[in-house]
Amino acid sequence: MNSDAFPALAAEAAERLAVHWRALAAAELPVVPSGAPGTTLKALPETAPEQAEELTEILDDTWRTIVPQLVHWQHPGFLGYYPTSNSPASVLAEFVTAGLGVQGMMWATSPAATELEQRVCDWLARALALPEHFTHAFGRGGGVIQDSASSAVLVALVAALHRASRGRWREHGTESRYRVYCTDQANSCVPKAARIAGIGEPVLVPTLPGTRTMDPAALARRLDADRAAGLVPAAVVVTVGTTLTCAADPIPEIGPVCRERGTWLHVDAAYAGTAALCPELRRVNEGLEYADSHAVNAHKWMRTGTPCDVLWVADRRALTNAMSTDPSYLRNPATDSGTVVDFRDWQIPLGRPMRALKLWYVLRAHGLEGLRTAIRHDIRLATRLARLVEDEPGFHLVAHALGLVVFRRDTDEQTRALAARMADDPTVLCTPATVDGQPVLRAAVGSPYADEAGILRAWTTIRAHARTAR
Ligand SMILES: Cc1ncc(COP(=O)(O)O)c(C=O)c1O
Repeated sequence: MNSDAFPALAAEAAERLAVHWRALAAAELPVVPSGAPGTTLKALPETAPEQAEELTEILDDTWRTIVPQLVHWQHPGFLGYYPTSNSPASVLAEFVTAGLGVQGMMWATSPAATELEQRVCDWLARALALPEHFTHAFGRGGGVIQDSASSAVLVALVAALHRASRGRWREHGTESRYRVYCTDQANSCVPKAARIAGIGEPVLVPTLPGTRTMDPAALARRLDADRAAGLVPAAVVVTVGTTLTCAADPIPEIGPVCRERGTWLHVDAAYAGTAALCPELRRVNEGLEYADSHAVNAHKWMRTGTPCDVLWVADRRALTNAMSTDPSYLRNPATDSGTVVDFRDWQIPLGRPMRALKLWYVLRAHGLEGLRTAIRHDIRLATRLARLVEDEPGFHLVAHALGLVVFRRDTDEQTRALAARMADDPTVLCTPATVDGQPVLRAAVGSPYADEAGILRAWTTIRAHARTAR
């Protein structure tokens, strides 16, 4: 391909995206596509072309074949799951990153990629008012960009196993004595990570009645009983901002329980951790001084495109001693000097893209004040929706925290019927789930185009479906 043609093609792609974003902002597109399973497969040839095709043609096909069958996560009517909000700054950074095409597995393979990542992780730690020992500047800990909260909890569990086994784990693998603890409200990535780490299903610690959060006294009893039975409590995973209801485990009480027993404490703050950008919401950080690791998905609520999770560790050695490898082909003087950070030892894959650039662009292009404004805006809209739910006969507010509103109708049948109607409506996406054994609908505000009109439109749709779904 002739690279002279690239600027015009890039401009065309940028123009198409700008038009797409305008259509999303104006809610001119559906949130959910209408095609049956197989629609896109049918539209695509079964084999790759033998001869080169024009990129303009491929761009055309993207909008003709692919875009109409996407769920538009940036749409103001997208209230599903937790948001994955994006921004022009993030998109531009991903474009530049792709163009530079570097691979920063070690300092030596792209020094600026590593040092930029160290710097932006420290920036973000300070912007979130995390304990200073989570910064690279402090010396012992530091942050690293992972692809996901799932990877973050997995590497945290590996570090915890390494620490709990005093390094035996590297040689002997995961012995059956090790245990991980969380509640039944933890995200599904926690049991998945425990299984992959060879620990098996986590021990489910009871929740405090009426709170959906971990009972610290029950945790202490269980850790002690397990220890007395010859087991090794390797890690406790707590959540700040659970997926179901955005509840927060009480870390100020759980932290000392873990610390006194030498058990690793990982905090999964994938969604809610971002709220700490706002000083008035820093309750989400309470007890973090006890945490061994803490993870926040910038790709959820920080206008940074997926994937971009930041994992901070208080002591990097537990992680790097567990993950390090030393083949001859990765040897280099900088690594041997011990003066540089090699992020290959902080993650599962060897290779890594330069994800720090998008966080750098986002933090600079929005400024912390810009990101705070977006968070407060989303919280205001969620509060508006929660009030509408509360004031509506036949509706019940199950939970409301930050940008999340969880609701149900009078009866489980009515809630299920409403969820079924909503599933057939392409203009609004809420996530059906089960809370306290009852069906609910979750609405999470976080689209970059979310506004009052969009929330009122969504609510009108929900009410209209509730009227007919009896
Ligand atoms: C609390 C929590 N933890 C973890 C995850 C998983 O995040 P990821 O997709 O980055 O692995 C989610 C996803 O919504 C979540 O809500």
